[in-house]
Amino acid sequence: MNFTTLFLVLSTVITATISSPAPACRPSKTTFTSSTTLGPAEAFVALSPSDTYELTDNGLELHLQRPEGTVTTSKGVNDKLGDGATVNSTFSFLYGKVTYEVEAPRVAGVITAIILACEGDSHDEIDIEILGGDPTHWQSNSYSPASSDTQPLWGVFSGVHSIGNSSTISRTHAYSVKWTADSITWGIDGNDVRTLKKADTIVNGSTHFPFKNPLLLSMGIWDASNPLGTSEWGKGPINWKEAPSKIAAVIKSVEVECS
Ligand SMILES: *[C@@H]1O[C@H](CO)[C@@H](O)[C@H](O)[C@H]1NC(C)=O
Ligand SMILES: *[C@@H]1O[C@H](CO)[C@@H](O)[C@H](O)[C@H]1NC(C)=O
Ligand SMILES: *[C@@H]1O[C@H](CO)[C@@H](O)[C@H](O)[C@H]1NC(C)=O
Repeated sequence: MNFTTLFLVLSTVITATISSPAPACRPSKTTFTSSTTLGPAEAFVALSPSDTYELTDNGLELHLQRPEGTVTTSKGVNDKLGDGATVNSTFSFLYGKVTYEVEAPRVAGVITAIILACEGDSHDEIDIEILGGDPTHWQSNSYSPASSDTQPLWGVFSGVHSIGNSSTISRTHAYSVKWTADSITWGIDGNDVRTLKKADTIVNGSTHFPFKNPLLLSMGIWDASNPLGTSEWGKGPINWKEAPSKIAAVIKSVEVECS
């Protein structure tokens, strides 16, 4: 081994060691207004074109746009899907609490998703999904596929919760996720409603709990009108004869607390 090779090997080891620790949780609160900016150098970046979202003094409006042309509904699905906005955080972290203040649209077939997700291949997710077709409830979910899985565990770790207080998803509610190395707790308006423990996620001898990978924050609105299984779960398809051509979910603020 000559000096250059040794140097390359050592620097690879050092770089791997430096880059491997998970990003620390940094406390922050972003209240979206018309003067908030999104971008790769900011806390949040839009992954969809600028005409799919709008920053207003009411918050960050994520839009779902009606597809161009005629939409045909048949056998429980639409033949075309509307384009929805997605905004991610530019930071990721391992463990902490995230609270999203959100007003979600009450249009059946529209999903407002406020999630923690992994960039890349791991598919770890901690989700909150708000179904426009079920305005008095919200859903919690978690995915962490194991390499031994023979099929995705869709819905195995999901929960359905009441909005409470005779309210609906179109009012502002604070949805939260508290994530630690061995449990996830979902809550609404300051009340914890569900805890999923790592020990309760063992299926066929493999743990299905996201605890290895740092996660990003991701907020989106999407059209659940196809395929059929998604449309049935999402209470779709969207009836574009009655729905507005631009449907908005409003993210008022996002807060990250660290444990
Ligand atoms: C944005 O978040 C989604 C999850 O909703 C994830 O699949 C994707 O990799 C993220 N993209 C970037 C560039 O952060
Ligand atoms: C669990 O194991 C059984 C029997 O080997 C198999 O049929 C099933 O598909 C497995 N489930 C998952 C989610 O991998
Ligand atoms: C209902 O509202 C009251 C008063 O704001 C609050 O204390 C309580 O936690 C709320 N309940 C739920 C289930 O959100």
